[in-house]
Amino acid sequence: MARNRLFQTRKHQIKKEELGLNEWMTPPWLLEKIYKIFPSGFDIDVASPVGIDTAVKASHCFTHVENGLEQSWDGFPIIWCNPPYNDIESFVRKAFLEMEITTDTDKMILMLIPSFIDFNYWHDLIFPKSSIIFFRGRITFRNPDETRRHQYHANALVILDSGTDWCREKRNQLRDEFSEHSFISAG
Ligand SMILES: C[S@@+](CC[C@H](N)C(=O)[O-])C[C@H]1O[C@@H](n2cnc3c(N)ncnc32)[C@H](O)[C@@H]1O
Repeated sequence: MARNRLFQTRKHQIKKEELGLNEWMTPPWLLEKIYKIFPSGFDIDVASPVGIDTAVKASHCFTHVENGLEQSWDGFPIIWCNPPYNDIESFVRKAFLEMEITTDTDKMILMLIPSFIDFNYWHDLIFPKSSIIFFRGRITFRNPDETRRHQYHANALVILDSGTDWCREKRNQLRDEFSEHSFISAG
């Protein structure tokens, strides 16, 4: 109870960042699969740690200091988002909004999020408007100190895109690359 209260305000959220409790770092094996399709990596990582090396290859990044939720994601065609676990829904809603208002022709946002499939944002946004790769088994994430970290829930890679031929091709390549996992196309 006291712990929950500690993280309720923005100030306390930053405290949480400082403590490193929000750092579920993407494992390199997963990113390597994506880099086969996007060899130069991402144009931006919109939820990036401060002062910690990650396996995410991105030309730009937003940390909690810039606050990725308050920035425009336009002009960044290929986006990576493994959101902080205390604010997943805000990042999901932001991603769908950015996809709606983007001026980028070929745009793809890849989100690695927990499969909390009973939540409204899954039913209102993710299921009807994206492609989803559900992972078989649990993903082991990394701590900043390189130790491993297990989760108690399943995860999914959610793919939002602008629907062009380029997007379709990339989406198919991702589906093939993650073929041992389960792929569900936009509804
Ligand atoms: C789950 S970690 C992902 C780290 C890295 N991007 C990766 O995929 O390995 C989420 C990161 O988002 C950062 N973060 C928290 N709030 C943020 C915000 N409002 N804007 C941008 N980054 C934020 C956290 O500090 C944390 O490093």
